Amino acid sequence: MTFSSTTTTTAPAAANGADVAEQRRRIHHEADVVIIGAGVLGCALAVALGRQGRSVILLEASMKEPDRIVGELLQPGGVRALEQLGLRDCLEEIDAIKVAGYFVTYMGEEVDIPYPVASPTAVPPEGRSFHHGRFVMRLRAAALACPNVTVVETKATALITSDNSDQVLGVECMGSGGSSSSKEDEKKDCYFGHMTVVADGYASKFRKQHHQHTPKVKSKFWGLELIDAKLPRPNCGHVLLDDHRPPILIYQIGTHETRILVDIPENLPSASVKNGGVKGHLRNVVLPSLPECVQPSFRAALEKGQLRSMPNSFLPASTNKTPGLVILGDALNMRHPLTGGGMTVAFNDVVVLRDLLSPERVPDLADTHRVGKQLASFHWKRKNGSSVINILAQALYSLFAADDDNLRALQRGCFAYFKLGMIEGPAGLLAGLIQEPFVLVSHFFSVAFLSLWLLFKQSPLLRLPLVPFQCLLVFWTACIVIFPYMLAELRS
Ligand SMILES: Cc1cc2nc3c(=O)[nH]c(=O)nc-3n(C[C@H](O)[C@H](O)[C@H](O)COP(=O)(O)OP(=O)(O)OC[C@H]3O[C@@H](n4cnc5c(N)ncnc54)[C@H](O)[C@@H]3O)c2cc1C
Ligand SMILES: *[C@@H]1O[C@H](CO)[C@@H](O)[C@H](O)[C@H]1NC(C)=O
Repeated sequence: MTFSSTTTTTAPAAANGADVAEQRRRIHHEADVVIIGAGVLGCALAVALGRQGRSVILLEASMKEPDRIVGELLQPGGVRALEQLGLRDCLEEIDAIKVAGYFVTYMGEEVDIPYPVASPTAVPPEGRSFHHGRFVMRLRAAALACPNVTVVETKATALITSDNSDQVLGVECMGSGGSSSSKEDEKKDCYFGHMTVVADGYASKFRKQHHQHTPKVKSKFWGLELIDAKLPRPNCGHVLLDDHRPPILIYQIGTHETRILVDIPENLPSASVKNGGVKGHLRNVVLPSLPECVQPSFRAALEKGQLRSMPNSFLPASTNKTPGLVILGDALNMRHPLTGGGMTVAFNDVVVLRDLLSPERVPDLADTHRVGKQLASFHWKRKNGSSVINILAQALYSLFAADDDNLRALQRGCFAYFKLGMIEGPAGLLAGLIQEPFVLVSHFFSVAFLSLWLLFKQSPLLRLPLVPFQCLLVFWTACIVIFPYMLAELRS
């Protein structure tokens, strides 16, 4: 099924060229760019390239409003990128909630971490939280309204490659999802483009042969929707930490709805079958540790029982090397969703790629040599908008889900660091507004040294001789927490 935009009344000359291109897309299934997946990344990219005058086909398995527990909080850095793409209005009319920063609790103590203001006169940065499906529908509407984009509801099944080289020429699809399901619609269909973009999300079907790495999953987020929950800090993302259970996130996603995400690592004892599984963990460990004002709505949601889960994956990016192909979004690169950075990375990537592939730089996308060169520089340039988010998410998750004493020492140090008022830098990193890895590394090691100091300070006199040894272990742990993720960013 083709979703076409209403015919526009542009100037005749431009309309002519665009009309021919539209016909080529509709009748011959040919375009400059074929994108698989009208999710967060696919829609934004389709609009960005379409507005540059490229002819774009956007393939989506289901145009129905997605109903998922992912991508519900957009950091200020992502809002900024959306603005650069001219798509900021997609945050309007979806009952989105303004996010001014974070509120963190740890062992009965609390700290506010507002997003940092650039200067005393500047407007404070804001994030937005919302129903994922509503936001995606707005992004899809923007793609549908773009005369140079044709959206087709169909499921991509294979990449079409050239007989005599490994160049990707287009996409093979099967039938149409959605309403029409007659035999006629179940037939094979092909779409051809100079450039094929794989943006089919976390469980990408097309990544395998063309990506050097595979996703690693160590935990899942289990989600519930709370109705009319009372939050300690409205308009803030809540991060609830404790030294005997993994982290919990809470944020409002609509006037009446609030999302709670509970991290459950593989083999968590309190979620074992013996202890009543995930529900047991939610009832026995999570419920009593929630702020009292949240408990009634949580209990009600738990009784209603619409529990859902998603894997929390880590996947380092790899350079796109197959001619004619680009992998983007979650298909390319993932980090733990603790810091809500995925969509910010996706929009930052679209901004970078749009500029690298502009018609001034690459007049013809059929020029695979030039496109390849631009994609090689994309791999490194995108790191401005992704490295900090990736490393921060993975390192923070390691600390917050601490399951040994050395990590717990770092966890205490991290919260003590916030308590000391060291929040502006970390908040800027979290917001996606500070993009320098050096800032992240210096804060991280400040936390590590503060953790060592606390070990000394809080040790009983008798144990003091052991502390230097323990300090070495904690410091070593800090290095193992962060260096692998930094190295992952340096690989090609
Ligand atoms: C539990 C969890 C919570 C998260 N929370 C946040 C958050 O708060 N903030 C944030 O910024 N990020 C968050 N993320 C990450 C964020 O959801 C992703 O980074 C983002 O959705 C990636 O966008 P995408 O376009 O690559 O993939 P998606 O948004 O998943 O889109 C993929 C699209 O491709 C379509 N598709 C798939 N296969 C095919 C096919 N064969 N043919 C045609 N179409 C196909 C799908 O239907 C879908 O529409 C979270 C992730 C998880 C797991
Ligand atoms: C669509 O593409 C044409 C070139 O084919 C370009 O002139 C026009 O500006 C584009 N339209 C929009 C709305 O971006």
